[in-house]
Amino acid sequence: MNFNEAETILREHGQEHLLKYYDELTEEGKKSLLSQIANINFSVFHELDASSERKIGNLAPVPAVTAAEVESNREEYESLGLEAIRAGKVAAVLLAGGQGTRLGSDNPKGMYDIGITHEVSIFSRQFANIEEVTKKSGAYFHIFVMTSEVNNDKTVAFFKEKNFFGYPEDKIHFFIQDMAPTCDVNGKIFLAEKGKISTSPNGNGGWYASLIKNGDGEILKREGIEWLNVYSVDNVLQRICDPVFIGATLKSGCNCSSKVVKKVSPEEKVGVLCMEDGKPAIVEYYEMPSDIAAMRRPDGELMFAYGVILNYLFKVELLNKTLEKKLPVHLSFKKIPYIKDGQLVKPEEPNGYKFEYLVLDMIKLMENCLAVEIVRDKEFAPVKNKTGVDSVESARALLIKNGVKL
Ligand code: UTP
Repeated sequence: MNFNEAETILREHGQEHLLKYYDELTEEGKKSLLSQIANINFSVFHELDASSERKIGNLAPVPAVTAAEVESNREEYESLGLEAIRAGKVAAVLLAGGQGTRLGSDNPKGMYDIGITHEVSIFSRQFANIEEVTKKSGAYFHIFVMTSEVNNDKTVAFFKEKNFFGYPEDKIHFFIQDMAPTCDVNGKIFLAEKGKISTSPNGNGGWYASLIKNGDGEILKREGIEWLNVYSVDNVLQRICDPVFIGATLKSGCNCSSKVVKKVSPEEKVGVLCMEDGKPAIVEYYEMPSDIAAMRRPDGELMFAYGVILNYLFKVELLNKTLEKKLPVHLSFKKIPYIKDGQLVKPEEPNGYKFEYLVLDMIKLMENCLAVEIVRDKEFAPVKNKTGVDSVESARALLIKNGVKL
């Protein structure tokens, strides 16, 4: 793309300001900016015109395998799950491409040291949980780690420095997710530098497309991997490739499943797994009408009781069928540094949008989804913030409660 072509396309989309500093750039900088412009996916910007609030269909609660039912069937589920792991049919996908802006650390979130008397990174905690499964099954499963352009190098270097947390290196595969441009409240794309368009990771929903784009579909085929356990980096009690969860899913005959937790209150900030217009769906807490969130059953329990913890099992066969389907784009309002009058501005308050695909929207593309209830204090300690709710403090307290030495 040459300058004139870039100017034309930008004018069409009302984004000519991106060339404001073009003349100040080196030859290399000019080339780089033009190639970034050629790669902008303008279609996501149409989302800004449409209302970002999605229309909610007819909602119905979803039944779950309750924690009590899990307990009474534990042996059977576990043995089914271990069998699948030993047969190499299950792999894990760690979603670690996020920027962790709320936590406010410059390093990848998984590197965050949650220890008190000695170093305990979030990654190391999750690998300690994985070790329990590999010991029980006597088999190592493949782990795909999604990073982003922003944190890939640091993540890979940390894994190397920590000797892959004692896990066989050849079973760990890194892949980098796609980026999307960011923009201000009027839809104008930000510049991060005079010759650099501001971009951010495009959400956790693009994980399967990015994994395939990276060529890892070959590993899935070659190894006969039938199920992928997708999980977030920020839960320090995350159970990965939990044989009981896998067994419950296999027994149910469902194409996908989600670990769920009983909400503590109608307002708790977790997405809710339910049926929407007859299909499994997750309704985000900010999209859930408050009167529906507050509905109770005759026994006093919340009707829409089950929140998701970002731990899903997907059947690969179904994922392949959904690859061509488009996921909705979500706008998230964040603090985004940008160039103004030639200077970098670091805003104190949210000032613009990031565009994200979300893994929770993939549930709708599956024909069915099994909900499996977990015990909150044993499996759910998210680290989203530095202090307060879902923070380093609350996660530390739960780790200690679970006998982890910090
Ligand atoms: P969050 O939605 O909490 O986002 O991610 P975040 O970027 O980590 O944190 P904030 O919102 O900026 O504070 C949930 C999970 O999805 C992953 C994260 O790494 C985390 O495991 N994720 C998120 C990605 O892998 N890619 C993304 O683009 C966004």
